[in-house]
Amino acid sequence: MVTCHCSVSVDGYSAGPNQSPDNPLGERGEELHTWFHGEGPPSEADAKVAERILAGYGAYVMGRKMFGGGPGDWDLSWRGWWGDTPPYRNPVFVLTHNERPPLEMAGGTTFHFVTGGVEDALSQARAAAGEKNVSVAGGASTVQQFIAAGLLDELHLHIAPVVLGSGERLLENLGNPAFEQIEVIESPKATHVFYRVGR
Ligand SMILES: NC(=O)c1ccc[n+]([C@@H]2O[C@H](COP(=O)([O-])OP(=O)(O)OC[C@H]3O[C@@H](n4cnc5c(N)ncnc54)[C@H](OP(=O)(O)O)[C@@H]3O)[C@@H](O)[C@H]2O)c1
Repeated sequence: MVTCHCSVSVDGYSAGPNQSPDNPLGERGEELHTWFHGEGPPSEADAKVAERILAGYGAYVMGRKMFGGGPGDWDLSWRGWWGDTPPYRNPVFVLTHNERPPLEMAGGTTFHFVTGGVEDALSQARAAAGEKNVSVAGGASTVQQFIAAGLLDELHLHIAPVVLGSGERLLENLGNPAFEQIEVIESPKATHVFYRVGR
């Protein structure tokens, strides 16, 4: 199965405006994730959802902007936002138009840079994941391409009670997919809505 978890604002943004190296989620983008890593212990509902995000995946696909490091030719000293031991602990396939050799990190994460588009990235991720699921980790452009191409099985939206007003809109350019709501889990910090995505 191919799934995507994404935190969004009530007005539909998955990142705030003016993303920068100091502010990878854009202005106020962090407010979308307080349910996941805010101050204090998480609610039982948020902890249950977080557990699902952190377990069970055998490979990930993400866009180059989520990996970071700026556009154009790679600065090979850039090794992602996550330090020496990224949380993925599995192969991660990064969509890009600029080739780069694989980057092996501590803890089981290797970043593979894929220039063949979403179908190529997904087939490599599926092969790496084996029996396990593949997670589309973001950002918006990557998620949109997966939905538009009919490659996403489930979308899990974590809707934070925040209005950003501008930024990176998640659900645009999708074609006409059918969404079937399969589960809702709520907490004061987010409404977690799980959709099956039809082709
Ligand atoms: N709210 C959440 O839960 C969440 C989750 C993940 C990320 N985010 C945020 O979302 C933002 C990034 O999202 P984004 O939509 O701007 O970008 P993105 O999807 O992360 O990356 C877009 C880039 O990936 C490469 N790419 C995408 N599709 C490609 C294809 N088919 N073939 C080749 N290369 C391809 C291109 O890079 P090049 O052409 O430059 O190589 C493109 O500019 C960040 O701020 C991140 O922190 C939020």
